[in-house]
Amino acid sequence: MFSAFLSYVLPQQDRKAVIMLKFIYLFNFCWLLCGVHAVVYDSITGEPATEAQLNYYRERNNLEICTVNIKPCDKNEWKRLDGSCNNLKYPSVGTQRTPTTRILPPILGPNYNPVDTVDGKPFPLARRVRCELLSEGKASDLTTTQLVSYYTLFASADINSLHDVFNYMQYILYCCEEKGKFDYMCTPNKIPKDDPVHRYSGIRCMNLTRPESFQTHGCLENGTTFVRMTTATPVFDLSQVYNAMTTSEDLRVYKNGLVKMEIDHGKLFPPSTNDSGNCFLNEPPRETRCNRAHFNTAIGPVFFAIIFYRYHNFIANELHALNPCWDDDRLYYTARDINIAISMQILYYEVMPILMGRENMIRDGIILDHDGFRDWYDEDVLPQMSDEFPYSLRWLHTIQEADVKLYDGDGYYLNTVPMINVSLRTGWLPLDYNMEKFTQGSFRQFSGAYDHIIDFDMSERVLGGISVSSDVSTSDLSKGRYFGLQPYVNYRQHCTGRSYTTFWHLKDAISTERIHRLMQMYHDVRDVELMSGLWSEKPVPGGMVPHTMYCLCAEQMLRSVISDRHWYERADRPHAFTLEQLKSVRKVTVAGVLCDVGDSVTQIQPSAFESISKANRITSCSSSKIGTLDVSAWKDSECS
Ligand SMILES: *[C@@H]1O[C@H](CO)[C@@H](O)[C@H](O)[C@H]1NC(C)=O
Ligand SMILES: *[C@@H]1O[C@H](CO)[C@@H](O)[C@H](O)[C@H]1NC(C)=O
Ligand SMILES: *[C@@H]1O[C@H](CO)[C@@H](O)[C@H](O)[C@H]1NC(C)=O
Ligand SMILES: *[C@@H]1O[C@H](CO)[C@@H](O)[C@H](O)[C@H]1NC(C)=O
Repeated sequence: MFSAFLSYVLPQQDRKAVIMLKFIYLFNFCWLLCGVHAVVYDSITGEPATEAQLNYYRERNNLEICTVNIKPCDKNEWKRLDGSCNNLKYPSVGTQRTPTTRILPPILGPNYNPVDTVDGKPFPLARRVRCELLSEGKASDLTTTQLVSYYTLFASADINSLHDVFNYMQYILYCCEEKGKFDYMCTPNKIPKDDPVHRYSGIRCMNLTRPESFQTHGCLENGTTFVRMTTATPVFDLSQVYNAMTTSEDLRVYKNGLVKMEIDHGKLFPPSTNDSGNCFLNEPPRETRCNRAHFNTAIGPVFFAIIFYRYHNFIANELHALNPCWDDDRLYYTARDINIAISMQILYYEVMPILMGRENMIRDGIILDHDGFRDWYDEDVLPQMSDEFPYSLRWLHTIQEADVKLYDGDGYYLNTVPMINVSLRTGWLPLDYNMEKFTQGSFRQFSGAYDHIIDFDMSERVLGGISVSSDVSTSDLSKGRYFGLQPYVNYRQHCTGRSYTTFWHLKDAISTERIHRLMQMYHDVRDVELMSGLWSEKPVPGGMVPHTMYCLCAEQMLRSVISDRHWYERADRPHAFTLEQLKSVRKVTVAGVLCDVGDSVTQIQPSAFESISKANRITSCSSSKIGTLDVSAWKDSECS
């Protein structure tokens, strides 16, 4: 089946070749799903598109990229998979390929290229700045586990766009070659001659492509304000599990509320593709599995996508056993709703409090200090994602321990594999008990330290066998330039209300030693970039992430609660939980989920994002200390 996802990542020349195919595909798709009364909305304005706009897009062959086709909303229906009808005034806002929002508006130069410094000079090379501010090496944090980075990356895959990565991994492969100089989409990173590593290798360039925008797709004229286009829905809704962004393939079985599963070496997996998919590093003939209709990216998010995919069927089976009179639809939607709610409960109440500080989050109203409802919905706040939120999450690359330690089901250490060897390689998981060994390691292994050190593999060969060399943090900094992010001091001012006009003003969050490093790279404090600031800051009191990252995350996390009509903590939403049901959801922890659907997990520490310790001992899954789901609150008396 033709993948709609691909059409947004194909380079211009290939797009022409598939345009006919795409139209045939969309035509059929619409006959089946769009219904007779579908309304076509302009993606950018969120208003129904006028005939003139439709013609404008038709002429440019980008109608289906710049508009959204939506069936009429019913205010009582379940949350839609495609994100439409979340906001009843603007039904298309919340679907994929609708505008992101900004905490501070973008600033870019001509042709959407990065601006110059205050002195009118180009910025220092991103790689040079990265090498100055982040050291390469190994350091562990003894209080948290690898699960922290796996889960946060998984959550960001729900709302983040991966096409910017796939573009230079799969489609625009020549950015470091002569040809790349003539392609507008190429924005490779130059490597300084005296680079600490590549002075020896001779590598002078690393691949990178420009972020996709409404301008690069021709939906907006050049010269208008830059608006990023993302392939994910901006609302937290487990898109990476329910396939809301890869293809339109329907994963439902239409029986007992289940989704399609395949058994491989005795374990459950989402359906696999026939072709090699995007599991670039599978080693056939042994390794053939590649999750169909899902992303097959870094191993952490792939792991959790499989876990939550299984968890859907786990919940559906429990509900079916409890309420045999429920039909398929009711079981499917209820199971999906509980699955999404639990994934959010774990994000908001379990992992982010470790990173951001629970007290801080309660103080700022991001989470509640009681287990009741909260109905903070505001129809005037649109369900959008700020560019700054997923951007600041990129700071977490610095805590990624790039060695994966494998353990057996009894908790004995077996061996270590580089993470880059097993990422983009879903086919590795079912073999040799690897899924089990990986699962066991995920809650036993320490995470990387929250410091100014980045793992070698993250900073030199993060794409494993695909690229000769790639540095994720250099790309992170460079992307900020092409996103047109405002200077770090503007974000600082936004967060604290103070103004920052000299380097020494930064002392409220950055040590003197780190300020000296920044001065080494930037002549004027107004030139310091957001990611450089995050790399340099001290952690927020009570938490582990930098001050400004806290602030940018807080703002979006609050927006996600207020703008999502289907937010799980609401009492007043379609098919809302009862208080008793909400309380059951709140009891579930990542340890409970792994006990229920993780491979050979029979015991685990109750707080699995935190390391095993005297206060957090390995405990049997059957113990009441482990937060597993109890569905009895969903008992329907009408069934008996
Ligand atoms: C804007 O410029 C880019 C790069 O030159 C081009 O690919 C794109 O089609 C242009 N968009 C419009 C609407 O002209
Ligand atoms: C996989 O390949 C088999 C045999 O070629 C074919 O019958 C089947 O429809 C294919 N499945 C998918 C999902 O493409
Ligand atoms: C990781 O991959 C590299 C390159 O393919 C290979 O040389 C190396 O042996 C692998 N390491 C492990 C532990 O599998
Ligand atoms: C750039 O990408 C191409 C294609 O994936 C790859 O062959 C090449 O090694 C990459 N260049 C570097 C410097 O990593």
